[in-house]
Amino acid sequence: MTAPIQARVAQRRWATPSVLELVLDAGETALPEAAPGAHIDVTLGDGTVRQYSLVDPAPEGGHRYRIGVKVLPDGRGGSRRLAEELALDSPVRLGGPRNLFALDSPGSRPIVLVAGGIGITPIHAMATRLRRTPGAQWTLHYTFSRREEAYFPSPWLLDDARVCLYESLAEGQGRRLDLAALVQAAEASGGADIYCCGPTALMDALARLCEGRPSLRCVQESFEAPDLSPDGSETAFDVQLSRSGRTLRVAADRSILETLREAGVDVPFSCEQGICGACETRVLAGTPVHRDAILSPGEQAAGRSMMICCSRAATPSLTLDL
Ligand code: FES
Repeated sequence: MTAPIQARVAQRRWATPSVLELVLDAGETALPEAAPGAHIDVTLGDGTVRQYSLVDPAPEGGHRYRIGVKVLPDGRGGSRRLAEELALDSPVRLGGPRNLFALDSPGSRPIVLVAGGIGITPIHAMATRLRRTPGAQWTLHYTFSRREEAYFPSPWLLDDARVCLYESLAEGQGRRLDLAALVQAAEASGGADIYCCGPTALMDALARLCEGRPSLRCVQESFEAPDLSPDGSETAFDVQLSRSGRTLRVAADRSILETLREAGVDVPFSCEQGICGACETRVLAGTPVHRDAILSPGEQAAGRSMMICCSRAATPSLTLDL
């Protein structure tokens, strides 16, 4: 991860009644390249860190990132506070970027992009890149509840023939995205890479439909924190740190991350909710109980790494590469 970057709010507009679009300008500082699908950390005044996907496939002019923030009146902390704190010209600290949702180089395989609601932000970055890639075969399916609440980061979303819009709650003429038909068509055409970002229900349904269809590759990113309410794995266990040789006891009411920090062990972290990937740590022995929203079911089953901010242990001890 790169060092924090000081920026300021160069542009601010309500793109819809609930989506605040911000352009964050680092001035003379060249921002790190960010491939489509990347997100950045935004640190608020009280130290709260939130992750937001970049709307564009690269920093504009090399020094500006654009984000679109869904602001809910009763939203989980950050977004409402961000909207209140980040006035035009306000300073803001940025981290990253990181990319857990990378678009593979467009090759011979068709690409199907699926966005639900604010999930359009990384999907827009991907589509922008694909529009500029000669020969890329792609379509974008963007579903939202009502047109007036849908975020359109670029005007071409409204008139590019490769973009299909679905307004599920439109009065009298609602058009719903038929995921089963989309998956069948992708399979019938010889296969595709499907990238999806949106509500959990949309992504779960798509993942289920893609199961058992080897010609389809389904790549997803979640904006929703996993359910971290008690699940029965909250018992004490040991973590052995292979590099220092230390052993720490993780109490039933503490996370591994909290335990390490309290013991003075310096480890990277950001969201503390299992959605950013900053705290991913290699597991050398023992079996984790995964509670994050990042690792795929296959990666979780392999147990080679874990998010130490939220995941726990199924064995009396875990050995970590720390
Ligand atoms: Fe974000 Fe652990 S700190 S996944």
